[in-house]
Amino acid sequence: MLPKDDTASTLKDLEILPMTFDDLEDVLSIERLSYPSPWSRSQFEKELQNRFSNKLVAKVAHDNREVIAAFIIFWVVADEAHILNIAVRPDFRRKGIAKSLLFFTLNNLEERGVKEAFLEVRRSNSAAQSLYNYFSFKKVGVRRGYYGDNNEDAIVMALEIKRARKIDFDDEEGYDGKDFV
Ligand SMILES: CC(C)(COP(=O)(O)OP(=O)(O)OC[C@H]1O[C@@H](n2cnc3c(N)ncnc32)[C@H](O)[C@@H]1OP(=O)(O)O)[C@@H](O)C(=O)NCCC(=O)NCCS
Repeated sequence: MLPKDDTASTLKDLEILPMTFDDLEDVLSIERLSYPSPWSRSQFEKELQNRFSNKLVAKVAHDNREVIAAFIIFWVVADEAHILNIAVRPDFRRKGIAKSLLFFTLNNLEERGVKEAFLEVRRSNSAAQSLYNYFSFKKVGVRRGYYGDNNEDAIVMALEIKRARKIDFDDEEGYDGKDFV
């Protein structure tokens, strides 16, 4: 069971949409600000073309325009999902945006009959681990020295997706998340 979604009241203008090639520059900029060894442009281009890959961006209103504040990329193969990447623009962190993206994603996975979601996280990345703990992801393994830039271990985490609670989005005519591959 997912925890109660307490993000709606603070993020009324948040919109979650499929990522497109037009979003690439903004997504790359978030990626580069977020990781010591960011993905390359061509990795994102491959994801955008890969039919197993699901890509979403979170847009928020900022300075009278809509900006991309975050993105998530995950694969669904048979009844398993792998969350490959989630990152939030540094100046939009701690506002519940990653939480919203994960709520949206996990509800979508549940609707698609996905049984389990997996991800890897750096041992030192306590912010991301707190986020995943909030959703009850459990540590299921360690990949020793997985990250080549500093030989850091990856913690493998998994979440069994049971009957996840549905989220009520304010905008009922908004994107329903069923088809964003
Ligand atoms: C990890 C990350 C995605 C979190 O995004 P965010 O939008 O700031 O997270 P949220 O505001 O939705 O936070 C949700 C919960 O996660 C936890 N959390 C998030 N950032 C945290 C931090 N810096 N320290 C401790 N806990 C944190 C908290 O439990 C938080 O709930 P709270 O604010 O009610 O305490 C963001 O810090 C980021 O982009 N980091 C760089 C990229 C990255 O590490 N991605 C994960 C790769 S595995």
